[in-house]
Amino acid sequence: MKNTSPIVMGSDHAGYALKELIKDYLAALNFQIKDCGAFSEDSVDYSDFGIAVAEKIASGDFNRGILVCGTGLGMSMVANRFKNVRAALCNDIFSAMMSRQHNDSNILVLGGRVIGEELAKEIVHVWLKTPFEGGRHQKRIEKFDTIKSNTI
Ligand code: RB5
Repeated sequence: MKNTSPIVMGSDHAGYALKELIKDYLAALNFQIKDCGAFSEDSVDYSDFGIAVAEKIASGDFNRGILVCGTGLGMSMVANRFKNVRAALCNDIFSAMMSRQHNDSNILVLGGRVIGEELAKEIVHVWLKTPFEGGRHQKRIEKFDTIKSNTI
């Protein structure tokens, strides 16, 4: 993969193991990773880590993020409250590809209790290498990216 811009990652306890696996996978591909935690499988609130990652995308500090919780649902809900965040819960390869081509997703969300390790790595690979198509999809994104949010 040519694009190795830094990636911000986060998980809760249920996503911790998969986050660690993906972190190692990306490090081996020379990606720089900012890990916002969690740092163990001790029970935590997914909201805290979703917020930490989404803030860094919303502020423009990072262009891409990856979040993992048990299902991916809670992290998606949290992240999509933030302006400029387009978080996509993708537990399959086709969705990961389309979330880039059509939705220009900037956070990939995975369900650590839903998918296996090899599928997760393939989803990440596809998500990172697939470009946004722009064109008619740009206009569609602008229609909701401009909705006022109560966060940054
Ligand atoms: C934690 O038990 C679980 O609720 C969380 O990881 C996530 O699946 C929430 O959406």
